[in-house]
Amino acid sequence: MASEPIDIAAIRKDYQLAELDEATAGDDPLAFFAKWFAEAEAAKADEVNAMALATVDAYNKPHVRIVLLKGLEAAGFVFYTNYSSAKGHDIAANDQVATVFFWKELERQVRVEGRIEKISEAESGIYFNSRPAGSRLGAWASPQSQQIPGREILDNNYKLYQSKFGETIPRPPHWGGYRIVPERIEFWQGRSSRMHDRILFIKTDSGWSKSRLAP
Ligand SMILES: Cc1cc2nc3c(=O)[nH]c(=O)nc-3n(C[C@H](O)[C@H](O)[C@H](O)COP(=O)(O)O)c2cc1C
Repeated sequence: MASEPIDIAAIRKDYQLAELDEATAGDDPLAFFAKWFAEAEAAKADEVNAMALATVDAYNKPHVRIVLLKGLEAAGFVFYTNYSSAKGHDIAANDQVATVFFWKELERQVRVEGRIEKISEAESGIYFNSRPAGSRLGAWASPQSQQIPGREILDNNYKLYQSKFGETIPRPPHWGGYRIVPERIEFWQGRSSRMHDRILFIKTDSGWSKSRLAP
């Protein structure tokens, strides 16, 4: 039996949980991000560290996908991936990226834009070694973003590397972290009647400038 068509246009939510003003956002957007992140985690936001990462390829085509934030440093936002993936090629061609977090449990969005750079091999190594063995093998087994003839390639690769490395699985040279060095960070708090609060920080020579944007 066919299910009833969903009236997507009728789906609506009025945001009423909280407000955001200039004073609350403070002067340090990374510190404020850490505060919102902690609040999202306390609110049990699902996949709290998931962020949509947008890159632009050598032909100026944008691409977006979810990655997981794995480190928040004074210098920026760190995630891990395969440097030979499609996103790795995009980044090699264009170091400007954008990312967005959506914490629906708190009716909040944070947008981050800036330059991206590889983290040090030492830092990537430390994180790689903290991962479960299965994930470490997966990093070897998956030629991320490449077309493969079937699932069995992955399973065969996995077994091959498992027997090759045994207990000691080294970090693949093509796998590591990137840091997004933010130039703009915007905090969005949903408000009633679409009159949302938006506070934007832009990096300056001496720190950050702060302004309010219309919703
Ligand atoms: C919840 C979630 C978390 C993910 N985390 C990562 C991640 O941290 N690193 C990563 O390389 N891919 C991650 N992925 C997979 C990416 O979305 C994407 O499929 C993969 O990186 C290949 O993207 P690309 O072909 O554009 O390079 C995640 C996907 C989801 C849905």
